[in-house]
Amino acid sequence: MKHLLSLSDISREDLRKLVELTEYFKKIRLAGNNCPKILSGKSIGLLFEKPSTRTRVSLEVAIVELGGYPVYMDPRSLQLARGEPIKDTARVLSRYLDAIVTRVYSQETLIELKRYSDIPVINALSDKFHPLQAISDMFTLKEHFGFIKGLKLAFIGDGGSNVCHSLLLACSMLGVSMSVACPPEYQPQKDVLDKAKEHASVTGAKIEVVENPEKAVEGADAVYTDVFVSMGFEKEREKRLKIFLPRYQVNRQLLKKAKNSAVFMHCLPAKRGEEVTEDLLEDPEISIVWTQAENRLHSAKAVLAYIFGKR
Ligand code: CP
Ligand code: NVA
Repeated sequence: MKHLLSLSDISREDLRKLVELTEYFKKIRLAGNNCPKILSGKSIGLLFEKPSTRTRVSLEVAIVELGGYPVYMDPRSLQLARGEPIKDTARVLSRYLDAIVTRVYSQETLIELKRYSDIPVINALSDKFHPLQAISDMFTLKEHFGFIKGLKLAFIGDGGSNVCHSLLLACSMLGVSMSVACPPEYQPQKDVLDKAKEHASVTGAKIEVVENPEKAVEGADAVYTDVFVSMGFEKEREKRLKIFLPRYQVNRQLLKKAKNSAVFMHCLPAKRGEEVTEDLLEDPEISIVWTQAENRLHSAKAVLAYIFGKR
């Protein structure tokens, strides 16, 4: 049985296949062809502890278009809210559902859920990782540039965020160099960085963490950022904004230091005026954020097909 708690659950070859599968699902949808009903008769649980627009809706639509049935669950309306443990919830849900996709505050919750589930568990974002976003972004890079190995992505901002962590793994697995510019207090976690460097030693990617955003964007094909205050860290808002602003904001001035052909990427939702300026986010010549968001639908199908071994 396949799970996807982080990109460490899959091989480099699997990730390459997921990018190809995303391309396949995008092509057939754009051509107006019917999606193969590979989830026919299957019910997929969506258990979300935190808000979500893209992940939730793209997954629900992907499941329906693949012929399956999505069961959305808000933990506040489950017995979890009254103290029923995750391990009991996992064993019960396993008897109704065919897979659980879940967005949680803590990666530990995912590990507990996987331990007690008899069905695949997919991470729809935790405090540590956001694998679905990174898989989709690898496809977006390939779609935009026509190739992926040899590109360079600069990530500016919270190096310890779920999105940065998953990008470090995905990029290093596919031979995309990545330069993370972040304050010393917000560096990527060591185990993630070590794993990325291990992949990079095989794929030829260059992985570095620096303090200076100008240095990170030198020669970059894509400049990526994410919010400075991720969900679950709201109490640190003031402290974080003081540390990140203005130095780590992505704006035109910073983009000018990347390649002329560089694109701006963001997982969304964005906080305009914080990690990115409004004009850059809205510039259709540079910003590919809407395509990134669209691709979450196609990549969600790819992940579900992969989990159920149908492609
Ligand atoms: N990028 C992303 O995961 O967005 P949502 O929080 O809206 O799902
Ligand atoms: N790092 C952000 C990503 C949102 C998709 C968060 O966790 O809030």
